[in-house]
Amino acid sequence: MNRLVVVSNRVPRPESGAHAGGLAVALDGLMERRGGLWFGWSGDVSPTATQTPTRMESAGAIDFATIDLTPDEHDRYYNNFSNGVLWPLLHTLPELMRYDRADARVYRSVNARLAAALVPLLRPDDLIWLHDYHLMAMPAALRSRGVQNPIGFFLHIPFASPDVLGAASEVATLVRDLLSADLLGFQTDNDLANFVASAQSYAGAEVIDAKLLKFGTRRIRLGVFPVEIDSRQFASTAAEMATSEPAIRLRRSLDTETMLLGIDRLDPTKGIPQRLAGYRRLLEKHPQWNGRATLVQIAATSRQEVGSYQSLRAILDAEAGRLNADLGEPDWQPLRLVARACSREVGAAYMRSARVGLVTPLRDGMNLVAKEFVAAQDPENPGVLVLSRFAGAAQQLDAALLVNPHDADMVADALHSGLTMSLAERKSRWQTLWNRIEDRTPIAWGRSFVAALLRTATIAAVPPLRQSFNNIQQMGPAMPAPANNTARERLN
Ligand code: G6P
Repeated sequence: MNRLVVVSNRVPRPESGAHAGGLAVALDGLMERRGGLWFGWSGDVSPTATQTPTRMESAGAIDFATIDLTPDEHDRYYNNFSNGVLWPLLHTLPELMRYDRADARVYRSVNARLAAALVPLLRPDDLIWLHDYHLMAMPAALRSRGVQNPIGFFLHIPFASPDVLGAASEVATLVRDLLSADLLGFQTDNDLANFVASAQSYAGAEVIDAKLLKFGTRRIRLGVFPVEIDSRQFASTAAEMATSEPAIRLRRSLDTETMLLGIDRLDPTKGIPQRLAGYRRLLEKHPQWNGRATLVQIAATSRQEVGSYQSLRAILDAEAGRLNADLGEPDWQPLRLVARACSREVGAAYMRSARVGLVTPLRDGMNLVAKEFVAAQDPENPGVLVLSRFAGAAQQLDAALLVNPHDADMVADALHSGLTMSLAERKSRWQTLWNRIEDRTPIAWGRSFVAALLRTATIAAVPPLRQSFNNIQQMGPAMPAPANNTARERLN
């Protein structure tokens, strides 16, 4: 079996503890099961930029190799360019972007330094799987150092349309850099289509078919691989945790009030202020909920050195205070805002106790919390998911109450429907949602990507006589079918 080399900015090193964020959740299981090398940023900052990994450690079948960032790199590459430019831009929120060309240069130099440190660790038959917006320059950085191994890249967040991306001039170069990979994976068809349009307009790539590009002499496969959670495992965690101390304490504190719940990273893309506006509208339009409902909003602080995150915290603090002061009663507080993470297990228990789950991002690659909320429910008395139609998860979870998060009335109406929905309808909607995610696991997701990457490698190795990629495909898959056939269906 080829060794899998995963490269991501955030690496859940053995002693770094649990980390909130979709990427770590998605990859942990696969790496534990399959083993391999996990390479990236150590999470630490130190004064000197080294050309070799700062730390090598192992846990079970996984070897971790990580490098520290310098304070300047941490500022410019991680805070300013990755999270201050690419994150808002790729989420189609260019107004949140704080652009400085010097940050883009440091982003590129960190990608180059990571590539230089990785190359000596590579073996000839390694499969390289790069992750997310921090590393968009890395496929080209690896190729320029002579790396011939198959390279896959998966974007965990959305890909915006080319006109939005034009707001940062470096994006054109980054699109070209990505075309040095063999396989590019996205969360949804929309993200893939946006990438194809950008590859055409910014790099002059030729579209061979909807999922195959030609750029110079290279052919680049594209695929849609929606990230999954381990639904059954999450469901049993939620059921077990329902009688845990934190779950009991929360229910007791709510007394007879019905709970609405949001669990997010405190991030401008998550639409939390808009959500609070929708909740306020609910209480104004339907005063029967006054004193009878409570919104518990858990917002795990994140990226606190980035300006837009600091402003968001201030906005939320102010709005939470206003909402409680305007609408609360001496014996009832409509909103409980907690700006701290809770563990996934405790979150699962809270989800099971909630009548309504609010997942209303302005834009989201997938949003695993939406899937977790479905998995956490008691099938005999399930809660209702109110989900933004701009979350990637909405494609699979269309039996949720889908809303436009910007429209406070629409959110309020959905909340009211959720709170008043009959048990029969709640059960029937939940069953439809559950059917969509029941059999999915992040391991199968990872395997489908790796199988597709292996296929690109095998196809590339076919003797040159067989000129046309399409002809090669018609000969049938060169590799055994992946464990679940998502990859084949989606790639073909
Ligand atoms: C999202 C991104 C990940 C990132 C995570 C946590 O899920 O797609 O790449 O790791 O957020 O953010 P952080 O900046 O703390 O790594």
